[in-house]
Amino acid sequence: MNTVVISGVAGMTGSEVARQLLAGGWRVVGFDTFFASSPAAIEDLRKEDSFSFYPYDLNRPADARLLENELAGRSSKGGLAFVNCAAVVHTKHFYVPSATFETNVCGMKAFLELAVRVGAQQFINCSTSEVYSLKSFVAGGVLESDPLLVASSETSPRASYAIGKLLTEFFMREAVDLGRIRGCSLRFANVYSHDEFLPEHIIPYTIQTLRKGPAIVLLENARKTRRTFLHNNDSAAAVVRLLESDRALDGSAYNVGTVEEIGMVELVETIGAQMGVTPEITFAGVRSADPERRLLNMEKIRARTGWAPTVTLSQGIQLCLRHGPRGTA
Ligand SMILES: NC(=O)c1ccc[n+]([C@@H]2O[C@H](COP(=O)([O-])OP(=O)(O)OC[C@H]3O[C@@H](n4cnc5c(N)ncnc54)[C@H](O)[C@@H]3O)[C@@H](O)[C@H]2O)c1
Repeated sequence: MNTVVISGVAGMTGSEVARQLLAGGWRVVGFDTFFASSPAAIEDLRKEDSFSFYPYDLNRPADARLLENELAGRSSKGGLAFVNCAAVVHTKHFYVPSATFETNVCGMKAFLELAVRVGAQQFINCSTSEVYSLKSFVAGGVLESDPLLVASSETSPRASYAIGKLLTEFFMREAVDLGRIRGCSLRFANVYSHDEFLPEHIIPYTIQTLRKGPAIVLLENARKTRRTFLHNNDSAAAVVRLLESDRALDGSAYNVGTVEEIGMVELVETIGAQMGVTPEITFAGVRSADPERRLLNMEKIRARTGWAPTVTLSQGIQLCLRHGPRGTA
């Protein structure tokens, strides 16, 4: 039986990747500190015989040693893959560069080294479309090979998240080029789900706000910002597809998103319409160095793995409205 080790397994991506891999016959070993998630998010997984959970911290060498002991010899009993989902992700946290660096860069590097030490064959590195930063839009969508124009410390502390993630892509590429492991980086764009633990992202924020009444405050940027939104079922499916397409694990990066672009005001109105509420929108605050549009070109992952998103934004909003985060619905 193949085994996958997932860091941040209680998070939005990690938990759904675990669900899909368990359904595909994998054994899953996962860990999380619940820094940005809840035990309720993996209650269903913990009932599965093929799922093991540990309350480990990606940043604690002692925890890595415990995990290493647990995994010793496992690679000879079937395939062994690592998926790194643990990260400081939310806008609420990632304006703190030192914290994001520790988890997102040092933690990723330590997890990659652990994967090599225990003989894992595959490593999936969750990166982000934030790496495109100020050049997140071209007609037809930005390509993985496009040069980047990244905001500096003069323009936005937010850029530290993107730059840290970009560095992990170099670690991933180096490890593959040196023949230490197979793997790749995924540049996710605006993933959402009904299972989001923190309400800061625009879709859960809108739903939670409109449940209390029609008044909603958006950033000034929202007057012009357009985004695509990728349902978590699809982002997790992209991870699974890549794990099953070893030839695609060449150390490179893959865009993972949709091309269904929508303006923020229209998004709030669309969600409101599905809830039977007419939103009363006001604007306050500005987010610096936030691109007006972000559109990815997904041809590379489609050509190499056949992956394409399946959940439309309208269907995804329906799913979010129907279910709250696990354990709260
Ligand atoms: N959500 C998005 O829109 C989005 C977009 C682009 C990229 N990504 C990337 O995808 C990956 C997964 O993101 P997500 O949306 O599932 O985020 P999430 O916050 O839902 O999940 C991250 C999980 O990691 C855990 N974690 C954090 N620090 C930890 C530590 N030191 N040790 C162990 N666990 C720790 C958190 O408790 C949480 O459960 C991240 O690498 C993120 O940067 C997400």
